[in-house]
Amino acid sequence: MGTVAIEQPVRLRGAKPAELLLEWYDRERRDLPWRYGPGQQPDPYRVWLSEIMLQQTTVKAVVPFFNTFVRRWPTVERLGKAALDDVLAAWAGLGYYSRARNLHACARAVVERHGGQFPSDETALRALPGIGPYTAAAIAAIAFGLRATPVDGNIERVTARLFAVTEPLPGAKGTLRRLAETLTPPDRAGDHAQALMDLGSRICTPKRPSCLVCPVHAHCEATALGIEATLPAKAAKPERPVRHGAAFVVLREDGHILLRRRPDAGLLGGMLEVPSTPWVDRMVAAEDALQATPVHGDWWPVAGTVSHTFTHFRLELAVFRAVVPLDAQLDLWAEPDRCRWVARRKLGAEALPSLMRKVIAHALGDV
Ligand code: ADE
Repeated sequence: MGTVAIEQPVRLRGAKPAELLLEWYDRERRDLPWRYGPGQQPDPYRVWLSEIMLQQTTVKAVVPFFNTFVRRWPTVERLGKAALDDVLAAWAGLGYYSRARNLHACARAVVERHGGQFPSDETALRALPGIGPYTAAAIAAIAFGLRATPVDGNIERVTARLFAVTEPLPGAKGTLRRLAETLTPPDRAGDHAQALMDLGSRICTPKRPSCLVCPVHAHCEATALGIEATLPAKAAKPERPVRHGAAFVVLREDGHILLRRRPDAGLLGGMLEVPSTPWVDRMVAAEDALQATPVHGDWWPVAGTVSHTFTHFRLELAVFRAVVPLDAQLDLWAEPDRCRWVARRKLGAEALPSLMRKVIAHALGDV
């Protein structure tokens, strides 16, 4: 005999997916620090901050950062007044650092353009730095209770399965958005969106979804056809190109490491780095890399490479290491104005991206 999905209570027989989802959410919602219970008034600042942090980052990774940020900067005004370097340093470890620069710019814009109150309307929200269509819809729905439909990867997956959309992503995005919009109820659109997010992360998972405990199982066309695990279909992705470079870890005799501030524009803009060569399409020969060391010294290649995946390419860094005396002079090409020496034990408080932490750990055995 086959298994049977859990029976719905009588009062929910014939209910629409949105009603079933909200009933499930009221019982099973994840307790997260940016969430609000029934009767509580959401703080748009916390909703916005959480949504920016949750872009491309898991809930588990975000929770401690969210708590630190709201403790340190409890309002949008306070965040707007913070020094950008402090915000970048507090963001270190979350990745995608342009988000942190936009976060700071957005906080200032909310204060300057809107008197410190987030606008509720999606168009006005989208005019703010770092707020795209997804985030604008999430804030409108969750913070202001407007009927808006944020569509992230989880919601795309749930929608593709509920409606058995077999067209592959990314081509199917428009179809999935329109279908997701048909699900959003006029009331409690924010809870509805978060119910879909929770469903996507706990039940309607990418692999082996737990259909037997799904509150909208009876409405799921993909399950009826037995194709749920194949959806959403994805068009074959082109391979990520590989870029190469060399990084130079300089340890001064007093235990300080040489760090350099990256230019404000571009990848990891404004963050600190271990001085490195440009990242190029071809492997850099060791003898060429050694022409570009930031300071004179006894340079040693460290065995192996450090590999890091960015959205559009994978980076392979060869690492070189030297110990230099206290009076070591930096070469001009290393842009001494952008460089500073930081004690190893103080690296934790610096705006050092995880890639650079990996490089230092690779060279020195730990950070
Ligand atoms: N992912 C993006 N926004 C979220 C939210 N509000 N709750 C849980 N996961 C999310």
